[in-house]
Amino acid sequence: MKYFIISGASKGLGEGLALALLEEGHHLLCISRSESRQLKTMAAAKNCPLDFFFFDLAVNHEITSLAGNIFQKIDKGAATGIYLVNNAGVVEPVRRVEDCKPEAIDMHLRINLIAPMLLTAAFIRHTIDFKGEKRILNISSGAAKNPYYGWSCYCTGKAGLDMFGRCVAEEQKNEACPVQSMSVAPGIIDTGMQTIIRGSKERDFIHRQKFVELKESGQLISPALAGKKIAHLLLSDDFRDGESIDIRDRY
Ligand SMILES: NC(=O)c1ccc[n+]([C@@H]2O[C@H](COP(=O)([O-])OP(=O)(O)OC[C@H]3O[C@@H](n4cnc5c(N)ncnc54)[C@H](OP(=O)(O)O)[C@@H]3O)[C@@H](O)[C@H]2O)c1
Repeated sequence: MKYFIISGASKGLGEGLALALLEEGHHLLCISRSESRQLKTMAAAKNCPLDFFFFDLAVNHEITSLAGNIFQKIDKGAATGIYLVNNAGVVEPVRRVEDCKPEAIDMHLRINLIAPMLLTAAFIRHTIDFKGEKRILNISSGAAKNPYYGWSCYCTGKAGLDMFGRCVAEEQKNEACPVQSMSVAPGIIDTGMQTIIRGSKERDFIHRQKFVELKESGQLISPALAGKKIAHLLLSDDFRDGESIDIRDRY
């Protein structure tokens, strides 16, 4: 059995990834505040075990206990691989930093950066004696490498996440059973996050029109296709420990 812990599988890319991973011998453990009916129905149809853990990742101090509950579902004796995909994320607040409320900056980094760090730490602790494949994939963005006017929180969180994944790979590389860790920018995907971006004000996000045009010219990829590419990366030899890649450079 392979176990997949996926944050943000209720919609968007996370849902697309979870759908791509539905197959015999896979058990999905999904974290979000809401659930995907489609995913639950498809999992039942494919006889694939799937659990939703309803959880707000902004509540950082309860993440260690959440991880304990998730790992109670994992039979390490029967597992050949355990995977964590830190996918859940938000783009807001979208505006110049001096116009952001302090609590909005705090909330953003708790969801996009601190939650993946705490899930990763718990994952490493819970799998320390597990000798099978252990991989963590962080869902990053081109915004990790390029500054965008109005996205200071988003760019900072994603850049931090990339560096965090590299540090984990560095800390793990001499372990007897290392956890592998990498990050991937998934391309521009037709999800609710893109709707929020197109709905932002021009004065807050000066690149808004470009994102409107990308949508109107059909250049956004579907969550289903993006999910398939991410699933392939996660399970194939293309997974490169310590790297931070853009999926568009690979597939
Ligand atoms: N869409 C793009 O073009 C694009 C491009 C580059 C990178 N990305 C990255 O891809 C990832 C997925 O984004 P998406 O476009 O699929 O966004 P989305 O459609 O808005 O989905 C976001 C997911 O994150 C979960 N989430 C958000 N806040 C949460 C919280 N406080 N606690 C628990 N779960 C939370 C949501 O679940 P609930 O609402 O049910 O809690 C949802 O499942 C993000 O990390 C994003 O930065 C997206």
